[in-house]
Amino acid sequence: MQKRTYSKIHSEILQWYKKHGRVTLPWRNSSSAYEIYLSEIMLQQTQVKTVLERFYFPFLAKFPTLKDVSLASVDDVLKAWEGLGYYTRARNLHKTAMETKGELPSCAEALEKLSGIGKSTAHAVACFAFNEPLPILDANVKRILHRFFALEKRHDKTLWELAYKLFDKNNAYIYNQALMDIGSAICRHKAPLCSACPLASQCKGKENPLKYPEKKSKKLKPIRKRFMVIYHDNNQYALSRNETLLLGGLWSFEQKEEFCVEKKNITKLGDFVHHYTHFRLDVNVLLVKKKSENKAYFSLEEIDNLALSGADRKALAMLKATLS
Ligand code: ADE
Repeated sequence: MQKRTYSKIHSEILQWYKKHGRVTLPWRNSSSAYEIYLSEIMLQQTQVKTVLERFYFPFLAKFPTLKDVSLASVDDVLKAWEGLGYYTRARNLHKTAMETKGELPSCAEALEKLSGIGKSTAHAVACFAFNEPLPILDANVKRILHRFFALEKRHDKTLWELAYKLFDKNNAYIYNQALMDIGSAICRHKAPLCSACPLASQCKGKENPLKYPEKKSKKLKPIRKRFMVIYHDNNQYALSRNETLLLGGLWSFEQKEEFCVEKKNITKLGDFVHHYTHFRLDVNVLLVKKKSENKAYFSLEEIDNLALSGADRKALAMLKATLS
């Protein structure tokens, strides 16, 4: 059987990128491996707009080089990451900075051995910073491949094979960047714009794109009901360092499954809901006057300099609103 070639598609993709590609994105105009790597880590679980408007430049202003990250404390890195979520990324970034002493290796194979760098991120950094011709496989590219090859089943090994099959190794940089742009602007999750797609001429899924990939079974998120207890004494508030995988290294108010709200010295500050990827947190915030020996107490000013999770920030805002 004759092997299918994709040269026509490749040239359509190049042309499309020239016209519509997001060529002004700062990490696409940088030759710094660190700046490219930082963008890829931030973009793993966060949208371009958020990274661009709120996090990328302030982080670089604070840590202009990976060497600066390696010399900083993990607390300072977490503080700069505050609000971006998925804090394992920040801890791994700090680890990688220390492991490499601020100098990233220049091939995908070595990059992939570092903390927090999976195969697709390693390929992206190697391709964008060091011109290694390797395909990437982020969520946007996966969706394109599922539709282009009319593949319903989600199976990463197959997707990697298809990623290599369609890959334009002679224009790796533009091809990879273009595919991400096409994934977000054209081959959209809910409303794909197939008539404007440069891959449409050979796309096997274009008659029924929403069929690919198959829907994930929708599990309802479990709800965790918690009391968030803010112990205070003398205008100081108790926080402890979080040791969970999700929020490790951040500072948190005490959380309890049960708490007797009828005790004296308790002020009810209110309720809020906070959404995590795998669960919903329903919080009842209480202010409790108590000095506990084994807790660290901070003034409000000091708390502003600590890295707190989104949920703890919400509780803090309630506290401040009550005090003002
Ligand atoms: N998502 C991950 N990497 C990206 C990049 N280089 N440009 C735009 N979005 C991305």
